[in-house]
Amino acid sequence: MTMFGVLILCLHISGTYIERLSLPPGPIGVPLLGFLPFLGSQPHKDIAKLSDKYGPLFTLQLGVHNTVIVNAWESAKDTLLNDCLLDRPKESPFTLTDDSISFMDDSGQVWREHRKFAQQTFRDIGFGRECMEDKVVNEIAYLTALIDETDGRAFDLQTLLTPSVSNNVSQLAFGHRMDFNDPERVFLDALIDRASPLLSLLGVLAVSPLWLKSHQKTMDTNNKRDYIDGFLHEMEKRRQTDPNTSFTVKKCSSNARAFFGAGSETTRTAVVWTVLLATKHKDLQKRLHQEIDGVIGRDRSPRWADRLDMPYTQAFICEVFRWKPAVPLSLMRRASEDTYILGHFIPKDSRVLVNIWAVHHDHKLYQNPELFNPDRFLTNDGKNLIKTEALIPFSMGKRNCVGETLARVEVFLYLVSLLQRYTISAENEELLSLEDVFGLTLQPKESVILRFAKRL
Ligand code: HEM
Repeated sequence: MTMFGVLILCLHISGTYIERLSLPPGPIGVPLLGFLPFLGSQPHKDIAKLSDKYGPLFTLQLGVHNTVIVNAWESAKDTLLNDCLLDRPKESPFTLTDDSISFMDDSGQVWREHRKFAQQTFRDIGFGRECMEDKVVNEIAYLTALIDETDGRAFDLQTLLTPSVSNNVSQLAFGHRMDFNDPERVFLDALIDRASPLLSLLGVLAVSPLWLKSHQKTMDTNNKRDYIDGFLHEMEKRRQTDPNTSFTVKKCSSNARAFFGAGSETTRTAVVWTVLLATKHKDLQKRLHQEIDGVIGRDRSPRWADRLDMPYTQAFICEVFRWKPAVPLSLMRRASEDTYILGHFIPKDSRVLVNIWAVHHDHKLYQNPELFNPDRFLTNDGKNLIKTEALIPFSMGKRNCVGETLARVEVFLYLVSLLQRYTISAENEELLSLEDVFGLTLQPKESVILRFAKRL
C-alpha cells in the first residue's frame, strides 16, 4: 500500500472513532470491520444480547459504518415514527445510477413520490380488495393440486411454495403468473433461494425488457392491469410537463424488481414458519383444524373475511410473526437531519437499525418471550384477539412495509387452506428443527421435509 493509501486509511479509521463521540456509546470493534467479526450466524440475537450491557440504544460499528442499534420497543417506536429517520443510507453497493435503484433504497422527495404512487396504483389494481384475494386463492389451488399428487409422501415444502408465493407478487407487479416449470420461473426461484442479496443486482432479469415492451404495446390507459401499466401511464403524463421526471423506464424496472425481491422470499418465509410450527405442535394444529372446520367447513375455499371469526388462527399467526419475524433486522435508516431518539442525540447522516427480533423478545412486553405460545394474544376466554402496537413484523410508521396488506392476506390464506385440506406431519418428528439462520430473512436452518395427508 502506498503512503497515500495508508494516510487515507488512518484518516478513515480516526474519522470513525471521532464520529462515535457524538453517538450513543457502545462496544468498540476492530478497525475497518468494527463488530462484524464478533457476530455469528444469528446476528439479531447477538445484537439483542448486547443490550444487557449497553441498554436498548447503542452504537455498533458494522463494517466501516457506525450504526445506532435500536433494541427495544419504546426506542423502536420513537425511531420509526420520527420523520427525520425515514431516509436510507446513501451508499448502496448495487447503486450504478440514480434510477438503477428502486424506491426501496431511495430517500427524500424521489422516495416519497414513488412510494405514494406505488400505494395508489396497488389500490387501483385491487390491493386489499376481493380481486386480489381471488388471485391468491387461485394460486393456492395450483399449489394444493400439486401437493395432492404427492399422495402423502414427504417432500420439501419450499420447492413448491417458492414459485407459488412469488406468483402473487408477479401478478401485482407484472400482471401475470408463471407456470412452476417455466424456465424463467425456475431461474427466479433459484435466485430467491440462493442469492437473495444479489437479487437486486441480478433480478434485473425479473423485469425483462420484453415484458416492458409488451406492456407498452398492449396498454389501455383506462384499465391498469398491474404496476407496470400504471407506471408507464404515469411516466407519459409526467414527461409532458417535466422532462427530468424520476419516472423513467429504468426506474419502472427497478421498482417492479424490488416488489418481486421484497415480496417473495419474505412472504414464503412467513408461510413456512406457520406451517412448521403447526407441524411441530400437534396440539396447536388440532386447535387450528377445529377452528377451521367450525368456521369454514370443508366445502368452500377460505376467505380473508373468515379471519374475523377465527381468533385462535389469528393469535397463532401473530405469535409466528413475533417468534420468527421474517425480517429480524429491519432495513437500514439514515437521519436526514440532526435528531433525537428517546433524548439521545443522533447527528445528521447517522445510520439507524431497528432490531425487530429484539423488540419481539423484550421481557418487558412478553412473559417468557422465548416460548412459542399463541394464547398470549388471546383474551382469557379465548374469544378475542389481543392486539398490540408492539408487534412490528412489517415495521411501522411512514416507511413501513408497502406490501403488508398482501402479505397478511397471503399468510392467512395459505395456512388456513393447507390445514383445511391436510394433516401435516414431519418425515421425522424427532428431527424436525425450528432452528433459524439469518440471511436477509430468517430462514429455517434445515430443509422443510413434510407429509401432507388429505383430510377432505
Ligand atoms: C411476511 C412478509 C413480509 C414482511 C415480514 C415484510 C417486512 C418488511 C420490513 C420489515 C420492511 C422494512 C420497513 C422499514 O424500513 O422500516 C419492508 C419494506 C418493504 N417491503 Fe415488505 N415485508 C413482507 C412482504 C412484502 C410484500 C408482499 C411486498 C410487495 C408487494 C413488500 C414490499 C416491500 C417494499 C417495497 C419495502 C420498502 C418500503 C420503503 O422503503 O418505502 N414486502 N418489508
